[in-house]
Amino acid sequence: MASTAVMAVLLAGSPLVLAQTSFPSSTGVVASQTSSSAAAFVTNIQLSLDDYWDLYIGPVANASINTTVTPTPIPSSSLIPPPSLYYPSFPSGQQVPLQSQNESWKFPKDFWYGVAGASYQIEGAVKAEGRGPSIWDRLTRVPNYVVTNDTGDVANNNYYLYKEDVARIAALGIKTYSFSLSWSRIFPFGSGAVNEAALAHYDDVIDTCLEYGVTPMVTLYHWDLPLFLQNAYGGWLSDKIVPDFVAYANLAFTRWHSKVHYWFTVNEPIVFCTNYPLPEHYFTKTDIPSIQQKYYCGHNVLLAHSEAYHVGKSINASLSISLKHNGGYKIPRTNSSADAAAVQRAWDFQEGWFSDPVFLTGDYPSSLKSYVSTFLPAFTDAQKEKINGSADIYAHDAYTSDFIMAPDSGIEACTKNESHSLFPSCYNTTKLYANNYWALGPASDPGSPWLNKATDWVPAFLHYMQDTWKPRGGVAITEFGISEPYEELRKDLASILIDPIRSSYYVDYLKAILIALSEGVDVVGTLAWSIYDNLEWSQGYGVKFGIQYVNLTTQERYFKASAFEYVNMFQVYQEK
Ligand code: NOJ
Repeated sequence: MASTAVMAVLLAGSPLVLAQTSFPSSTGVVASQTSSSAAAFVTNIQLSLDDYWDLYIGPVANASINTTVTPTPIPSSSLIPPPSLYYPSFPSGQQVPLQSQNESWKFPKDFWYGVAGASYQIEGAVKAEGRGPSIWDRLTRVPNYVVTNDTGDVANNNYYLYKEDVARIAALGIKTYSFSLSWSRIFPFGSGAVNEAALAHYDDVIDTCLEYGVTPMVTLYHWDLPLFLQNAYGGWLSDKIVPDFVAYANLAFTRWHSKVHYWFTVNEPIVFCTNYPLPEHYFTKTDIPSIQQKYYCGHNVLLAHSEAYHVGKSINASLSISLKHNGGYKIPRTNSSADAAAVQRAWDFQEGWFSDPVFLTGDYPSSLKSYVSTFLPAFTDAQKEKINGSADIYAHDAYTSDFIMAPDSGIEACTKNESHSLFPSCYNTTKLYANNYWALGPASDPGSPWLNKATDWVPAFLHYMQDTWKPRGGVAITEFGISEPYEELRKDLASILIDPIRSSYYVDYLKAILIALSEGVDVVGTLAWSIYDNLEWSQGYGVKFGIQYVNLTTQERYFKASAFEYVNMFQVYQEK
């Protein structure tokens, strides 16, 4: 692997700002182009990958376990289901498999269910074996960007413990494992030189899944952009990302298409695009106005995703390739026409932003387009053609719902006023019913204010996805879960492991899917978020979504009750 790159170093006062304007080739160095800036001193220096880490990230923590661990047998005592959370009318026992069954519900035989995780949130080993830094290695160094100042340096040490992790979910009866590749592990500088050690690592993760009878599902991009690409050209803000992402996708599809059937190009673009603008002074400056940045990002995501989709299909036409959407079900707060219009704007500025182009028209919903066309180039006919149809299933990380209402000022007063606080989307949201008293369902941890258990709306949501975007391969819930409130305050294992809110979330959500299935919605699979507690991005490790608890000091894993409740729903309801 090449370890040097030529960079233009801009010294623009304090803190140090670095901008790379050239890229490593497979031999390490290509011609550089220096950029100039009146306020900056520009020069070329050669930096190795280690220098790059040192300059941008500084010291990283290392785990005490730093070689791949052979799994130990999962103790049968840890596979005993918990006491029942739901009591049937005639108490028949203490354990979940004894629940009474609704005979008219079933999950089809080929319905897949599994658990999900993502590279930066679980892998750790950030500097191991040639990995380059990602923007999240940098963001975790911005003081208080992560509320706890936690980093992903060690995380769940999944980089070395993946065999154990796969063995554990297999022992529980979970059939699918969805994980993401770390782009900067594979291409330490985002493009150019490939890190063979990373390929060998993911070869083994995939082979381990297959060995345990677990279907691997791979996401190419789960927010950990190679830092080099952010600094070189603004990452997703620039269309230069398109060929880089496509080259990365091409490599992954080529290497693993015969072993991995299900692929997701990007995870939740609404979230990572809304993450722009990145904190000032930590990344190379951009001239794109802050309010527009997320839409530049979205534009380049659609171009990159659709190109990658077609590359994947040309390598193996039978692959299932999609992108993971997010948002939530949108309930009109009242039956006024203003709230109905606000609901439509909410769909347009959330799911519709990516779903309408990919599933309906190749272009944005009209309300979004009337805003973005004031600064973004229109998609060409050829681009629209590529975008339209570029997903095989409708994959949605459908956690929750919101009430939607028109802004107090009315929608029009907002759309005409760029300084309105809700501009440009111009709809308002709340978790409270119109009585302003009750929330729409039990709250999650305060670190996830966007999320309440709103499982009553899941059947309506599933119908909406199918009826609106008409996916040819059905609808998949590619993430769902809840952060049990204040879970981090529980210190003894016995109280940590029984997680009633998460358990009822999964049971009620899966019942809602069974209802939707019985009503004709083609739901094809679910992935629980998450395989275990992990780095909840800017909320750190304190906000927990896992169906397993992880003692981060010893790296021991423990099944929570919700893990059993989740699996049990399939044991009871899936056709054999
Ligand atoms: C969706 C994201 O994909 C995942 O990374 C995150 O941890 C969960 N939501 C929970 O917030």
